Amino acid sequence: MSVVIKTAEEIEKMRIAGRLAADLLEMITPHVKVGVSTGELDTLCHDYIVNVQQAIPAPLNYGMTATRPGFPKSICTSVNEVVCHGIPGDTKFLKNGDILNLDVTVKKDGYHGDTSMMFLVGDVSPHAKRLSKITRECMYKGIEQVKPGAYLGDIGAAIAKHAHAHYFSVVEDFCGHGIGKAFHEEPQVLHIGKKNTGIQLKEGMIFTIEPMINLGKKHVKIKKDGWTAVTKDRRLSAQWEHTILVTATGAEILTLRTGEVSPFTG
Ligand code: MF3
Ligand code: CO
Ligand code: CO
Repeated sequence: MSVVIKTAEEIEKMRIAGRLAADLLEMITPHVKVGVSTGELDTLCHDYIVNVQQAIPAPLNYGMTATRPGFPKSICTSVNEVVCHGIPGDTKFLKNGDILNLDVTVKKDGYHGDTSMMFLVGDVSPHAKRLSKITRECMYKGIEQVKPGAYLGDIGAAIAKHAHAHYFSVVEDFCGHGIGKAFHEEPQVLHIGKKNTGIQLKEGMIFTIEPMINLGKKHVKIKKDGWTAVTKDRRLSAQWEHTILVTATGAEILTLRTGEVSPFTG
């Protein structure tokens, strides 16, 4: 399978799915505070997707293999040293100083919108705040590279350059991905790379950019539940994600939230 170029009709459906994913993060934002459990956040999102958006939470039961069960919940909740794929739990309560990534993927009319953002819970340490801020900037540095004729490697190179300039490390075990009818399609969008290498971007491609940036070393391990990825050194990790359409002149962020502006152009 190679990279799918979306038709105008498919792009319209991806705009709708992307908007729903962005709406979901906007809906849940006021609920993220000290004392709430990640299980409650999952329930609120699940019910909103199913009952209000009349859509499907794509993570639920996703990704079963011979060695792991399908993902058991409707969103991913990754706290502090959790890099990604944290499983919501009714006894996992947010506490003052936590940093949390909420990653949501909504499937509507057969198409997927995938986005995630960081939340700072209560009073967060300056280094944790900085990690979150720089990681968001890394995502936008990647997005800035997107236009027809650019190379996939340009995205990873820009992200890694910004992370390393701040002495953070880039997780290599997970990457962005094409997205459309399938949750994960070609190409793999690495968050490290070399300029002018890899495939060339074409108008109509849609993929995610979702850098995971660590305060310490880049290495990750998977917990016994088969999903939760944590930093090996147990130091903090942050992630931001958008779904991006390659347009004739650049990029369109399909999962942009109300009032969201780029840290560079906004
Ligand atoms: N939303 C994640 C991504 O950005 C994937 C989550 S897979 C799940 O690709 F099964 F954990 F939900
Ligand atoms: Co994704
Ligand atoms: Co995601």
